[in-house]
Amino acid sequence: MKVAVYPGSFDPITNGHLDIIERASKIADKLIVLVAHNISKNGMFTSTEKARLIKESVKNFSNVEIDCFEGLLVEYVKENNINFIVRGLRAISDFEMELQMAILNRKLYSGAETLFLMTSTEHSYLSSSMVKELFQMNGSVSQFVPECVEIAMKNKLCGGETNE
Ligand code: COA
Repeated sequence: MKVAVYPGSFDPITNGHLDIIERASKIADKLIVLVAHNISKNGMFTSTEKARLIKESVKNFSNVEIDCFEGLLVEYVKENNINFIVRGLRAISDFEMELQMAILNRKLYSGAETLFLMTSTEHSYLSSSMVKELFQMNGSVSQFVPECVEIAMKNKLCGGETNE
C-alpha cells in the first residue's frame, strides 16, 4: 500500500489545497493531510481548528485522513512508514523553496520521495495569506475556500468559537 503525506500550514485550507488533495488521493492508496508547523508563520487558526476544517472539507474522499504534528516532517514520515511527500507547485516562485525542502528532507531521510503536483491554473494565484487579507478587508472569500472555512473565519472575526 502506497501511503502519502501532504504537509502544510493550512491556515486556512483553500480550494487550491483541496485540488491537490483530490488529485493526490487518486495516486496514493492512503493520503494523510498533515497540519505541520512552519516556524516562520503565526496562524489565524490553531492546529486543532485547522484539522477540523480540513476534515470537514475532505469528508467525501474515502482514503484521506488528517493528522497534526509539531516536529520535523521527516520524523513523521519515518514513524508512519510514508512512501511519498506531496507538495503543490503554483509558480516558478514556489520552486526554489520547494526544491530546498525536498533536498533537505531527502538528506535527513532517504526513505521517501517528494512528489510535486502542478496546481491547477485557476488556483495558481491563491494563498492562505491572500484569503485572510481579502477577508480582513471585507472582501468575499466564498469562491476561494470551502464553506466551513468561510464560516470559521467569520466566527473568528466575531471573537467566537470555531466549534471546538
Ligand atoms: N493552492 C493554493 N495555495 C497553495 C497551494 C495550492 N495548491 N499550495 C500552497 N499554497 C499556499 C499556501 O496557502 C501557503 O500560503 P501562505 O504562505 O499565505 O500561508 C503557501 O502556499 C505555502 O504553504 P504550505 O504548502 O502550507 O507550506 P508552508 O510553507 O506553510 O509549510 C511545511 C511548509 C509545514 C510543510 C514545512 O514548514 C514543514 O515541513 N514543517 C515541519 C517542520 C520541518 O520538517 N521543517 C523542515 C522543513 S525542510
